[in-house]
Amino acid sequence: QQTTVTLSADKPSGQISKHIYGHFAEHLGRCIYDGFYVGENSSIPNTEGVRNDIIAALKNLNIPNLRWPGGCFADRYHWKDGVGPKGQRPSIVNTMWGGVTEDNSFGTHDFLNMCKLLGTEPYLAGNTGSGTVQELSDWVQYVNFEGKSPMSDLRVKNGQQKPWNVKFWGVGNEAWGCGGNMTPEYYVGEYRRYATFMEGKNLFKIASGANVDDYHWTETLMKGIPLHMMDGIALHHYSFPSWDKKGPAVGFTEQEYFETMKTALRMDELITKHAAIMDKYDPKKKIALVVDEWGGWFDVETGTNPGFLYQQNTMRDAMIAGTTLNIFNNHNDRVKIANLAQCVNVLQAVILTNKEKMLLSPTYHVMEMYKVHQDATLLPVVVKSDDYVVGNEKLPAVSVSASKDAKGLTHISAVNIDRNKSESIEIILSGAQYKTVRGRILTSAKADDHNTFEKPDFVKPAEFKGANLKAGKLTVKVPPFSIVVLELE
Ligand code: AHR
Repeated sequence: QQTTVTLSADKPSGQISKHIYGHFAEHLGRCIYDGFYVGENSSIPNTEGVRNDIIAALKNLNIPNLRWPGGCFADRYHWKDGVGPKGQRPSIVNTMWGGVTEDNSFGTHDFLNMCKLLGTEPYLAGNTGSGTVQELSDWVQYVNFEGKSPMSDLRVKNGQQKPWNVKFWGVGNEAWGCGGNMTPEYYVGEYRRYATFMEGKNLFKIASGANVDDYHWTETLMKGIPLHMMDGIALHHYSFPSWDKKGPAVGFTEQEYFETMKTALRMDELITKHAAIMDKYDPKKKIALVVDEWGGWFDVETGTNPGFLYQQNTMRDAMIAGTTLNIFNNHNDRVKIANLAQCVNVLQAVILTNKEKMLLSPTYHVMEMYKVHQDATLLPVVVKSDDYVVGNEKLPAVSVSASKDAKGLTHISAVNIDRNKSESIEIILSGAQYKTVRGRILTSAKADDHNTFEKPDFVKPAEFKGANLKAGKLTVKVPPFSIVVLELE
């Protein structure tokens, strides 16, 4: 099998925002409680209630931002319930996710202090569904205002002297659905009202964006919201096999895996089309496309735990991550922030936990291998890919992105989604000369291969020996189901 890639090292094409490597934590299932947050009194080693092993693992990913508290939960969340002495915080019902009791022990201070521990930027999603303009305006003041005010006084009383200066703010979430079932026209009015009263310096306000291919939503927002009032528009897109068949749809049979990868690769078309609409109204590209929810979503109808979205993260998910991150890298002109859903124990989690242990998923390893692209300069690639054929349908087997980092190292990430055939990739390196190549590979034989608490290193990166550099030509031989990141010097 043969794929050809031309890499133009002499045509640097802007920075890849590190923020496209962002993560997401929602009050959903075992993401927060019984996930990364165990409380100060837990026997599991923790810092301010957050598991130390998880802090170390997330820090190792250089996670640039973390979105919280939802998701759909955000439009049901009243932030004042989650501040002040823990024993006095009200218990509420998490009506969105399973009707469980939410004791509010993980609130604003807990989240923002955790972000400090992680060295990551918080991204707070505000409530525009069941909340009020005053409530969101107060949250901004509580979190960010340095001087004396009712909200900053309350913050100080609750133990935090200095403001956290949070930059990223979501103005609602999925306003077309769980965030209030609004029409785009109605949401435009709501956005303008809420955003007006979110006052402070250097806020980056993100409008609740389209569900997948709802281009009318994006067009209505771009037309109706003055450019100076917003900084980003969200887009949510998940990858999954067709759900219209009987039985669990988990993406492991060849047909289901193919369907899953088809939806993952569709991210490219979605970004291209939403960005084209944005270009019409914003040719200077001031407004970012913020893909603040993406990843695989499996077996929701028939799964064992439908309310809580726990799913096993396997090689199938690693393939979704590798191809999606390549797509984001290559759309660096418009995609500035993205958030994998979600970080622990929910959907395409990078970390899974049981009572004592935690486990790194194949997706974790992809994120770790790809961190070399964070804030690096995009090097454009033209890929003539071989096909991955299943039945009468085909997909490009290989996806690639490349960048040059601040130290002058070039990184090429290549994914072969074909589960049957290895690929020989010829990379023509134009505009630069390289002396050495080294690399790492993540591969495994089957779509459902995954790590377990008994075998935590079953799927993990290894040194890659299949690259050969000669006279400006790089030949790479990649096995089926594999992700390779090369480093050229
Ligand atoms: O990530 C799970 C859910 O998916 C989020 O709460 C919601 O925004 C989306 O529909």
